[in-house]
Amino acid sequence: MKDAVAAELNLHATEELNHALLVANRVIQLGGTPVLSPQGVVRAQPVHLRPPEDPYVAVLLDQNIAGEQCAITTYKGLMDVTKDKDMVTYNLALTILGQEVEHEEDLQSLREDLNLMVQRGSK
Ligand SMILES: [Fe+2]
Repeated sequence: MKDAVAAELNLHATEELNHALLVANRVIQLGGTPVLSPQGVVRAQPVHLRPPEDPYVAVLLDQNIAGEQCAITTYKGLMDVTKDKDMVTYNLALTILGQEVEHEEDLQSLREDLNLMVQRGSK
């Protein structure tokens, strides 16, 4: 399943980069300074944005599922604080949240496929 997982993660990475650009542009519109370095991002989200250390597909999937769940929580939180106060940021968070939910579902589906393959292989 390595190729299927790599293809999915590459697609997600492209979409995550777009999310970063959208958020950075919004921060600039609001007069702030976006976090620009990977180290700054890791400092801001230290738990779920660790570089992969174990290349086993199951571990990569679990790590990325946790990352997507963290993103979902983060964008829901952003929606909560901007609701009825900043509709532009609220709508941006809602749009990104939709993609993060799709990412999480895609990875959960791959994880379930892997579990089935492991179960069938052990019989
Ligand atoms: Fe994502």
